[in-house]
Amino acid sequence: MASRRAASSAVAAVLSLLQLGVLCFPARQFHASEPPCGYKSCPGTQPSMLNVHLVPHTHDDVGWLKTVDQYYYGDRNDIQHAGVQYILDSVVEQLQKDPARRFIYVETGFFYRWWRQQDQAMRHIVTQLVDEGRLEFINGGWCMSDEAATHYTAVIDQMTLGLRFLNETFGECGRPRVAWHIDPFGHAREHASIFAQMGYDGLFFGRLDYQDKARRMKTKEMEMLWRASDSLTPPMADLFTGVLPNGYNPPDGFCWDQLCNDAPIRDDPQLEDFNVDDIVKRFLNVAHAQSEVYKTTHIIMTMGSDFQYENANLWYKNLDKLIHYVNAKQSNGSKVNLLYSTPSCYLQELHNANTTWPLKTDDFFPYADDAHDFWTGYFTSRPALKRYERLSNSRLQTCNQLEVLGGRRSRKGLFGEGGSDSMREAMAVAQHHDAVSGTEKQHVAFDYAKRLAAGWGPCQVLVSNSLAALSGSDAPRVYCENLNISVCPLTESSPKFTMNVYNPLGHAVMWPVRLPVNGTAYGVFDAKGSPVDSVVLPVYQASREVRGHKGYAINELVFQVQAPPLGFTTYSISLLQNGPPPTPLENKAPLSIQNKFLKVTFDPDTYLLSSLSNLETKQTIKLSQNFYWYNASAGNNAESRQPSGAYIFRPNSSTPFIISKMIKVDSVKNAVLQEVRQWFGPWVTQVVRLYKDSRQLELEWTVGPVPVGDGLGKEVITRFDTNIRTSGLFYTDSNGREVLERRRDYRPTWDLKQTEPIAGNYYPINSRAYIKDKDNQLTVVTDRSQGGSSIADGSLEIMLHRRLLYDDVRGVGEPLSEPGEDGQGGLVARGTLLLALTPPEKAADLHRPLAQSVVLQPLLSFQQGAPQSSSQLEFSGLHAALPPAVHLLTLSQWDRESVLIRLEHQYQAKESKSFSEPVTVNLQKLFSTLEIVGATEMSLGANQWKDQMTRLDWKTSSGEQPQRQSPSDPSPWDVTLNPMEIRTFLLRVMQH
Ligand SMILES: *[C@@H]1O[C@H](CO)[C@@H](O)[C@H](O)[C@H]1NC(C)=O
Ligand SMILES: *[C@@H]1O[C@H](CO)[C@@H](O)[C@H](O)[C@H]1NC(C)=O
Ligand SMILES: [Zn+2]
Repeated sequence: MASRRAASSAVAAVLSLLQLGVLCFPARQFHASEPPCGYKSCPGTQPSMLNVHLVPHTHDDVGWLKTVDQYYYGDRNDIQHAGVQYILDSVVEQLQKDPARRFIYVETGFFYRWWRQQDQAMRHIVTQLVDEGRLEFINGGWCMSDEAATHYTAVIDQMTLGLRFLNETFGECGRPRVAWHIDPFGHAREHASIFAQMGYDGLFFGRLDYQDKARRMKTKEMEMLWRASDSLTPPMADLFTGVLPNGYNPPDGFCWDQLCNDAPIRDDPQLEDFNVDDIVKRFLNVAHAQSEVYKTTHIIMTMGSDFQYENANLWYKNLDKLIHYVNAKQSNGSKVNLLYSTPSCYLQELHNANTTWPLKTDDFFPYADDAHDFWTGYFTSRPALKRYERLSNSRLQTCNQLEVLGGRRSRKGLFGEGGSDSMREAMAVAQHHDAVSGTEKQHVAFDYAKRLAAGWGPCQVLVSNSLAALSGSDAPRVYCENLNISVCPLTESSPKFTMNVYNPLGHAVMWPVRLPVNGTAYGVFDAKGSPVDSVVLPVYQASREVRGHKGYAINELVFQVQAPPLGFTTYSISLLQNGPPPTPLENKAPLSIQNKFLKVTFDPDTYLLSSLSNLETKQTIKLSQNFYWYNASAGNNAESRQPSGAYIFRPNSSTPFIISKMIKVDSVKNAVLQEVRQWFGPWVTQVVRLYKDSRQLELEWTVGPVPVGDGLGKEVITRFDTNIRTSGLFYTDSNGREVLERRRDYRPTWDLKQTEPIAGNYYPINSRAYIKDKDNQLTVVTDRSQGGSSIADGSLEIMLHRRLLYDDVRGVGEPLSEPGEDGQGGLVARGTLLLALTPPEKAADLHRPLAQSVVLQPLLSFQQGAPQSSSQLEFSGLHAALPPAVHLLTLSQWDRESVLIRLEHQYQAKESKSFSEPVTVNLQKLFSTLEIVGATEMSLGANQWKDQMTRLDWKTSSGEQPQRQSPSDPSPWDVTLNPMEIRTFLLRVMQH
């Protein structure tokens, strides 16, 4: 310890010389060997005392009340006083004053902005601070992601983006050891699994259910080992997890930021109000109380909060004194030792304690901070932003893939920060816990959407270049952004056009296409010139209403496309007839619709769904469906004043209002599809669709503008009621990957006192939910993140849209009432739910690939006229489709010579009779356009070589020791994936 002190003061001397400009060579040269960052740089502690790790930190939201750039610059301080650039300026200056001081920084998206603006001298200083562990990066993703509304693909991407910057800028000393999710509103098991696979040694967070926290404090279970996967062999997905004592705030009375009002330490006895004795006494009380609920002789205190340390001197000056005066008591026998520390240094001490920890295997949803305050509304808040984020993910993956497959030609015309960078950054920002979560102010939500739209611009150029290169067709190509509301000027007006369908999945896909047109009959031909069944239908009335004057198509041309794995195919479409009207719709519901796989019946009186049958397996369930709204609490009832808002769902009655018992319908049956258009009222409609060769039923819902003229906030759900015997159980996915069992009015780890029978049973659904008994499983695949529950046996409900009149007092300061197109009225949201009925043991075989096809949906692009002669109409980037169990999660250009890929086993252990087995893939034989000359495996975050990855190991109180499995690949090129395993490789390639 003494020698470490000496080294530090030598460094301090060098630093002050640097500041004077005396030394002009890089600071790094002082280190003969490795820099002492990481666990080696941790301060010494006192084994016989209570060690209090003071962690100076700032929590910088990547957009919330202000946009990410407003926060960076400190603009619009009238909304909230916050300026990240000043925080970093100020902290770096204060760190240099004393080598004992520490700081952690979390959001690489902000740090990156700041770093770009620093000169060489400042960069050297910062590098030195990082090398010595005085400035430590924690978490290190572009942002601190939301955990309830994010999809694992985008979470892994945003972490990769941040971690890559840190590695390239600071090397090994920039690699975060600890995940730090202090603010997200509930914690997903898949997030913990991802962190474990990225090599993190631990996770700390601030928010958990108040009942859970009370119990954990009593039983000293605030710190635990989270086993975050049912499928991965321990300890692959084991993550040490700690609950912070006070959210992420300092203890009461010890906040010394300029944003706080606590008394500074007044330590000059000659001046008024000397308060050292009082402060020391109060602090010792807090420390002792805290140590009562934690297991070891180390405790952690988060000394900071939202956007603090803009004037870091205030904090450090008082912390210096606090440490000095509290430790001075040691000479009088005090056994409390304060130190500047970091979460990783605290974690190392917990590890050194060599004790056992309780095991946790479920997750931390839902989160309630009081009896009537369940943070389950944001699972659905801002449904259109949630869908746009998901669609943007699909576009980013497509853009990344085509950049690789098209080679250098793809980047033609893109200079500097071109190509996929801005899309990648926009997606990373959108993962923030006030972005896709829907808990930001309206102007900030617009900013997130604008970034995604702007990112798609350069990606489109890249995609067009790549498609031109791969197809040999350079005719101008257009993308229709508004196909979901039947708008596409090219298809509406052109008598002859070509459609390219790019499929980002590693498997062939069949996908329905609906194009706005004005003719009444079209010839559709596939890449081989064979005719394709198609039908022309009048544009759906709800689409006409939403699109307003954006488009004028009277009809939609509908057909199914089939696209090859990781590639494209081309369809030629030509107008045959302008004359008579298309297939007219019938103004009544058929008694049933069916194809060779499914049959759906409708109630003859109400026209609502009444049953669903799987014709292959000869199963039938009763299935009724309707739309309802919960009346949002306005905060004026007896039990609590909590209203529903952007975060919180609080219906003021457990019985939702039905929107309509009697509905109006139109229907149509033809060779391509059968559909029933249901009108529930002026603001809720649905189309029930069954395509010819489809194993799932499509329900396209349109909800909005939700009327609030009656003074009632509304939380709109659709509910499926069945005769499936669920016994209180239902199932929801975690970030789109593993599925967790949920039980009504129950938590696996504590004795729940249920205080909100609806909101307290809501869980996030990212891609699928299901209910089942031993014979039947009804699975719903969603197209975005939504909240849902099973409030009665046999029932499954999904919240689709929310429009509220009050703020829910969690800081956002606005009621969640999204404006419509013209800034007036309310927002209309549209989406689809896909329903499948199967025996439970066959369900995953259907819903795993189905959900992936919704996440990575085909990209359509259009060209005028017939395909250019000599152009290539079909292409696959793979030599052959991937095995059914394997999902191509990432294919992305890393640098000039290398490509990052991630291969994923997309089934859980035991979930599928056919596919829950290890599967082997040959890396060299995968891609048709890449010659692969080398492959190196990396950690999931791609910031560490797999063979250099070491993690701290932890013992559980149940005693069982995980067996470490060494990978058993048959050969260096043949890699084996076990259920739910993701493997990441950097491939060195020769591109053609
Ligand atoms: C940790 O504790 C175990 C007993 O629980 C003991 O055998 C082992 O030696 C200890 N390790 C260290 C490093 O103290
Ligand atoms: C980290 O960055 C350095 C410097 O750019 C690079 O040489 C190294 O390969 C990177 N490590 C990984 C695992 O990517
Ligand atoms: Zn936050």
